[in-house]
Amino acid sequence: MTTELGLKQSSLLALNDLSDQQVFGLVDLAIALKGKKLGHSTSALEGRLLAGKNVCLIFEKASTRTRCAAVVAVADEGGQAEYLGKNDIHLGKKESVADTARVLGRMFDGILFRGYSQSTVEGLAAFSGIPVWNGLTDEWHPSQILADLQTAKEAFGRLRGLRFAFVGDGRNNVCNSLMVGCAKVGIDFVNCCPQELSPSAEVVSLAAAAAARNGCVSEVSHDPIEGVRGANVLYTDVWVSMGEESQFQQRLELLRPFQVDMAMADATGNLPAGALIFLHCLPAFHNHQTEVTRELGALEVTDDVFEAPFSKVFDQAENRMHTLKAIMTATMG
Ligand code: CP
Ligand code: NVA
Repeated sequence: MTTELGLKQSSLLALNDLSDQQVFGLVDLAIALKGKKLGHSTSALEGRLLAGKNVCLIFEKASTRTRCAAVVAVADEGGQAEYLGKNDIHLGKKESVADTARVLGRMFDGILFRGYSQSTVEGLAAFSGIPVWNGLTDEWHPSQILADLQTAKEAFGRLRGLRFAFVGDGRNNVCNSLMVGCAKVGIDFVNCCPQELSPSAEVVSLAAAAAARNGCVSEVSHDPIEGVRGANVLYTDVWVSMGEESQFQQRLELLRPFQVDMAMADATGNLPAGALIFLHCLPAFHNHQTEVTRELGALEVTDDVFEAPFSKVFDQAENRMHTLKAIMTATMG
């Protein structure tokens, strides 16, 4: 295993920035780095891979996993991370993206950005002169999908030939990236969503091009039960992404029939065969223990699915750290 994936000094703004081979390579590197953390011998990865590296984390939106995964990943490999929340810096208020990027590029070795506009993360990459990684924008969430693929590979021992069904808001950042990511590694993918929340033509065409290259399918279904048939991975996300809160009521109405429950898990046909896992990028509305669900109950997934033995959501959350570490060491280490 090596961190040499042809990515030195590259940014990761969307999964399509990576070749298909680089996606496989980053997943395998993350698995090897996880082994290193667990004390397994991985001679090629010995030493502090990020020693002396300083990383800044610019977060316009809230985060539990991405922020913590980045901080721990950098510290594990001997580097330092500085968190810059939305009220901490001048970005967008008193200073342009280009000026902020040029300043940070003189001090840091890498930038992880989470926020609204894809053009902001693109501007940081264009002007900073250092690797910039997208930690979620309105359009894409590429680092999440590497963790999802790692989790699937750990569960099934392979990626090529699996079938993923994403059920829910078929045009959000996670679904967009998952659609492209699955096609890049030869996974059949079905996006099960209401017609009104279908993916954009641009995302469909990016995924279709990769799927054709890799001999897999990438399709959209508006039938949540027929659509999931044959799936090995049942995946959902929140019905209302950060920044879209005003659409909450409308989303509840559209997405209620797309709630992931045991009947849907059974409809995959893979539940009795033990060939199914459930994934969710988290946070998840699965029980009555949040402000929102105290009143409404479970939303995108029922508690019995979320807590089932075939649910791998906490492995998936942990893998955010190993995959961010892989991205950082491959691009900056
Ligand atoms: N999955 C994910 O990105 O989680 P956070 O919003 O907690 O970072
Ligand atoms: N689609 C969700 C993902 C959260 C990790 C959002 O953007 O809020």
